[in-house]
Amino acid sequence: MHEQQTVRLQTEVDTHASRTHTCGELSEGHVEHHVILKGWVDTRRDLGGVIFIDLRDRFGLTQIVFSPQDNQAAYNKAENLRSEDVISVKGTVRLRSNDTINPKLPTGKVEVRIEDVLVLNTANALPFSVSSHEEKRNLANEELRLTYRYLDLRRPELLEKLVLRHKVYQATRNVFVKHGFMEVETPVLMKSTPEGARDFLVPSRVHAGQFYALPQSPQTYKQILMIAGFDRYFQIVKCFRDEDLRADRQPEFTQVDVEISFANEETVYNITEDLLATLWKEILDIELPLPFPRMTYQEAITKYGSDKPDLRFGLEIHDLSHAFEGSGFRVFDNVLASGGKIVGINVPGQGDRGRGAMDRLDKDVVRKRIGAGGLVYFKLPSDGSETYSSVKAEVLPASAVEKAVEAIGAKQGDLVLVLAGKDHQVHEQMGALRLHMAKDLNLIPQGNQGPWSFLWVTDFPLLEWDEDSQRYYAMHHPFTSPHPDDMESMFDNPGATRARGYDIVLNGHEIGGGSIRIHNRDIQSQMFKLLDIDEEEAERRFGFLLKAFDYGAPPHGGIAMGLDRIVMLMGGTENIRDVIAFPKTQSAQELMVQSPDIVDDHQLNDLHIRVEMPPEE
Ligand code: AMO
Repeated sequence: MHEQQTVRLQTEVDTHASRTHTCGELSEGHVEHHVILKGWVDTRRDLGGVIFIDLRDRFGLTQIVFSPQDNQAAYNKAENLRSEDVISVKGTVRLRSNDTINPKLPTGKVEVRIEDVLVLNTANALPFSVSSHEEKRNLANEELRLTYRYLDLRRPELLEKLVLRHKVYQATRNVFVKHGFMEVETPVLMKSTPEGARDFLVPSRVHAGQFYALPQSPQTYKQILMIAGFDRYFQIVKCFRDEDLRADRQPEFTQVDVEISFANEETVYNITEDLLATLWKEILDIELPLPFPRMTYQEAITKYGSDKPDLRFGLEIHDLSHAFEGSGFRVFDNVLASGGKIVGINVPGQGDRGRGAMDRLDKDVVRKRIGAGGLVYFKLPSDGSETYSSVKAEVLPASAVEKAVEAIGAKQGDLVLVLAGKDHQVHEQMGALRLHMAKDLNLIPQGNQGPWSFLWVTDFPLLEWDEDSQRYYAMHHPFTSPHPDDMESMFDNPGATRARGYDIVLNGHEIGGGSIRIHNRDIQSQMFKLLDIDEEEAERRFGFLLKAFDYGAPPHGGIAMGLDRIVMLMGGTENIRDVIAFPKTQSAQELMVQSPDIVDDHQLNDLHIRVEMPPEE
């Protein structure tokens, strides 16, 4: 226990007037001013006879100085101050001597000589340092930081991200107001909306056995608002999805949700581009070139093996099927005979990779992580010696290898990676390998210094086949309009039907998605039929929307952007938790308040719920 504990616990009543300045405000212009500052003790340096403290609040740091010459009582108190104590100080602003100026701090030219100090509250010894002087590499582990989130949020680095988020809210509202949008709140206690994840359910007390669902998105409500004639709606809104978490996914997250009447794709693209360009200009002072490039879903999958391709590096996927036709290599022949594809990427400058590294790539990455059958590769050594094939020449003739190497444009010193498999699947697997190689070779720029690779991905398929359940699911959601040209053939060839759906992608992250909607009851009913939702179920789940379509529904469309992901990328972090004040861990817990938690039996009784625990493992 700290020896000063009893003294330290006697915190003082704040008899100082309100602060005259924040800790980020004082500069040369304030020299000789008498000021009152309030804040946290960031660091304390005792130079024997003079004590320097960096006083911190959310606006910045100011150096304050205690010396017995200025005031003995204040100096004595300062001797006992510890990191994160909360104090109020009165003093006079002085210019720092030339050799003690700190050019990195906006307040770095001045200091405040203290005449009086009040200790407003003391802080226990800290579980980790939150000082702005702490180096990033000394960061405590994330679980501990999440448990003491109020301390972690004091770190300027994290605080900055939430300030950035705050600016994004403000600028977003301004852009939509400028374009004539109305901000409307939609219910949080609602009914299941199909966005592809599990719902979070809220049991009803009044209606025994019935449940609200927290919105996976306000999709149906925003469409209803268009039918209500609101014309242009936006909302910065919490959405809830019970799905597996990843670095850029949270169970509750925030959307910038948008819906526009009488809109086509171009209307949505224009407004979205204006929003993003404004955010980048006003907040990061970066001019984004408009319009953003566009790519069809098909092209994205074929060239990059992903519907959210990162275009900041090459490693494009090539279809090498024709090079291996009739090669006699049984694995390839079988794949081609069953309508599959053989695809490759050329990795420049990696032709001298050792056998061990290639074996690990095959075993740990290609087979284990990506789930492909196995890797075939060709190395073109930098010394110009013969091409090395991972498949022996007796099995895969050198002529086929040469053909493939030529088709992909590989040069001396390059490495060609090849996968074979089902058409769509093998592209996705190669997309994953492409990303792995880019990360491995440090081809992906980190931080928020750009480049900023925005991309519209268009012409999404309407439906997605699910092998497990042997049925189609909507690729976006069931309210997305089929492409007019594919409407006729929708039932004959569901898998090939295109949707009027689009995503906006930034640096390989999906930052938004939307579509032009169905606004006609018959087409909506047909869509439900395609999705194997029978009339009774459609009526029960979406009858309200179908009915509303009968009362003058205007054509409409929209988009929702993932605000957390946008702030994450603007803030130069790969971790979505860094831009959320109180995020959940990968296992969906909030460690500070310890949620989720058990509840009292009487609460469960009120809700007509009995808990049956799963058997212990
Ligand atoms: P979608 O499901 O594509 O569309 O969601 C829109 C955007 O929200 C973000 N997002 C997430 N961010 C963090 N954690 C999550 N778990 C998460 N899930 C989604 C993504 C995504 O692009 N109603 C439709 C929109 C529309 O059609 O207008 C919808 O919700 O950035």
